[in-house]
Parts: sequence; structure tokens; C-alpha cells
Amino acid sequence: MPTYSDDQVKTWALELDLKTPQEILRHALAHHDNIALSFSGAEDVVLVDMAVKLRPDVRVFCLDTGRLHRETYEFLEKVRDHYGIALEVMFPDAGAVEQLVREKGLFSFYRDDHKECCGIRKVEPLRRKLATLEAWITGQRKDQSPGTRAVIPVVQVDGASTGASGALVKYNPLANWRSIDVWRYIRGNNVPYNALHERGFVSIGCDPCTRAILPGQHEREGRWWWEDSTKKECGLHITNIES
Ligand code: ADX
Ligand code: SF4
Repeated sequence: MPTYSDDQVKTWALELDLKTPQEILRHALAHHDNIALSFSGAEDVVLVDMAVKLRPDVRVFCLDTGRLHRETYEFLEKVRDHYGIALEVMFPDAGAVEQLVREKGLFSFYRDDHKECCGIRKVEPLRRKLATLEAWITGQRKDQSPGTRAVIPVVQVDGASTGASGALVKYNPLANWRSIDVWRYIRGNNVPYNALHERGFVSIGCDPCTRAILPGQHEREGRWWWEDSTKKECGLHITNIES
């Protein structure tokens, strides 16, 4: 399994910055055998569509927090059938969830902030998955969160996690796309989408921490709306805050 240096990845980031998401995906799939796409069940379905067209047996995983919307679960199954892929669904550690709920109840995030719950339900399962991989692909975009994602590169060394052979490479092929580009692709290619998008939801996470937005609101205002916009990362992409 090849390992790539920080400098090598920075060179790729410069070379790939003006490339299309498909070209970035092609590069990612060509350079890493042990790579998987992290799919949240929202607009990042465009990456599933693009990746399957490049590699029909591409690996796709989801983090099931136990608190997703019914519509998202239905959508995950739709994507599984539509693309004929074996979605790898990660679950949180049962003991850790039981302890959190026993001590703080089912809605502690409204009082304490979301970090503890996200840490147990999303971040730990993600780290477990990433520890088996050489590289991963996300649907992060700069326009999703001016407070935390304005400068994400199309590829980076993931400083927050360790991969199967040490350093882990993280691809963000949609970094330079805007929401409108994503929706043009979805409509233009008849890509299936989460039914919540028809009810005013734009960015979609867990049910208790996501709400529809009003015209003119930024999509991130629909996530953890009771918290400061510069802290709106659940820990999956913590390097966005640290950097
Ligand atoms: S979050 O960190 O605020 O929850 P966001 O919803 O913007 O992330 O999604 C950005 C990218 O993070 C997604 O395109 C996907 O790659 C990854 N991601 C977020 N949530 C999940 C999830 N539940 N399962 C798998 N990947 C996810
Ligand atoms: Fe928990 Fe909300 Fe984070 Fe989901 S988004 S893991 S419910 S705090």
C-alpha cells in the first residue's frame, strides 16, 4: 500500500484545484486501491453517481447515528438499489450511547452543545472506519459553511485521523462547486435525491439537529441552529476548525 508525503499531497492539491469533480475522483481512484466514499444521504449523492460511473464497485460508507430522518434511511436504501452498491453502514458503540443517554437523556446536545453526542454517534465510528483505509472521499464544499469550510482544498492529508498505513489522504472533490452546480448535476443526470430536499431542507444531518431553512437563509443555519456558526463542525471535519 503506497504512502504519500505531505508535500506530494500539497502538489496534487495545486494540480487538481481547477479540475472537475470527476477528474479529481478519477485521480483518487487511480492512486488508492483502499479508498472509500463517505456518504451522508444528502446532496453528496452526486459523488456516488460520479464514482459509480468510474468504478462500479466503489466502496461507499454511511455513519448511522441512530438519529437520522426516516427519509434519509429510505434514501440510503434507494441509493443502494439504484446503484447496486453494498453500502457499508457504521454504527456507534452501543455501550457509549447507552451511557450518554442514561446520564444525560436523549437531547443533551440542546443544553451541552453537540460535541459529546456527535463524538459518540459520528466521530468514533468514522475514526474506526478510517483506520482501515488509505484514503477517503467527502462531499464537503467551501460554500457549505463560510465559518469553517471557506478554504478547504480538493485534497489534503487528514491530520485528524490515522489510516491503515499511517497518514490518511482526504479528497473533497466538490470543494469548489456551489450548491447550484450540485443541483444542476442532480437534475441533469436524473440522480435520485433525499425527499427532505422537497420540504425546504438543504444541508441534512440528524433529525433533532437539522431543520428546513427559509428563503435567503444560509444552508448552515439549518444545522445546530442554537450554536455559533464558527463551531458548526461535528468533528468529522475537525481540521476545518483547527486550521
Ligand atoms: S457535518 O460534519 O456537518 O455533519 P455535512 O453534513 O456538511 O457534514 O457533510 C459533509 C460531508 O461529510 C458529506 O458529504 C460526507 O462526506 C460526510 N458526512 C457527513 N455526515 C455523514 C454521515 N452520516 N455518514 C457518512 N458521511 C457523512
Ligand atoms: Fe447527536 Fe445531533 Fe450530532 Fe446527530 S447531529 S450525532 S443527534 S448531536
